[in-house]
Amino acid sequence: MLAATPYRSVESGTAGVVQGRAGAVRAVVRDGIAGCAHAEAAPVPAPDGRSAVRTLIAYASRYGSTREIAEAIGEVLDKRGVAADVRPAAEVAKLEGYDAVVLGSALYGGGWLDDAVEFLESFQEELARRSVWLFSSGPTEAGDPVAALGGWRFPEELAPLAGAIGARDTALFAGRIDPDQLSMQDWLINRSMRGAGGDFRDFAQIRTWAANVAHALSDEAGDAVSSSPTGT
Ligand SMILES: Cc1cc2nc3c(=O)[nH]c(=O)nc-3n(C[C@H](O)[C@H](O)[C@H](O)COP(=O)(O)O)c2cc1C
Repeated sequence: MLAATPYRSVESGTAGVVQGRAGAVRAVVRDGIAGCAHAEAAPVPAPDGRSAVRTLIAYASRYGSTREIAEAIGEVLDKRGVAADVRPAAEVAKLEGYDAVVLGSALYGGGWLDDAVEFLESFQEELARRSVWLFSSGPTEAGDPVAALGGWRFPEELAPLAGAIGARDTALFAGRIDPDQLSMQDWLINRSMRGAGGDFRDFAQIRTWAANVAHALSDEAGDAVSSSPTGT
């Protein structure tokens, strides 16, 4: 018999489906990069050969695990020539100066932390004009995190917003739980959900995802050069 899965999501499925800006239902690729046209002109590469695309990686994290995922994504982008700032979502006052945004949150009770939800809501218009990738981190089990949740979809209440901003992807990564770190309330919830302790994050998977993001952003910068009269 299969063991009960902690933190099972309310819906099953392997790919999120969100409502697009034009009202059309659009599949959000879970492990890949779904194409999406953005109205704002993509920036051209900087003279030093690095992409001039500046990316913000914002995160909401209660115990640091999602912060470390965000930092790992930032390192990959940086190494691939895409400038990246990694910051807590709650501390971001404006998106000016950023061409692209990666936003991630830990999952609690099936949903995102308030800081990430507030970020998504308050910057909705600015995000819709930028390239945006979303990720969630949560399942504390070995193996495929989507399977660990018995099928997973991006939090239902946020899916329309993700669609409205044209998010390129809504990835799910496994998480980490250290029972000794938890507040009494979280510890009790975790115990009642039979949540396992341990670090289940797959940094190889996270880095591959980040490399895909970097690749997409570099492509955009390249497209801008080849379509620009001065970029030949
Ligand atoms: C009280 C509690 C509730 C949780 N709820 C969920 C959940 O609904 N879905 C899930 O996948 N993981 C859930 N988790 C696991 C966390 O998302 C995971 O530990 C994550 O890595 C924590 O990230 P953070 O350290 O950045 O806060 C829960 C953990 C705790 C302690």
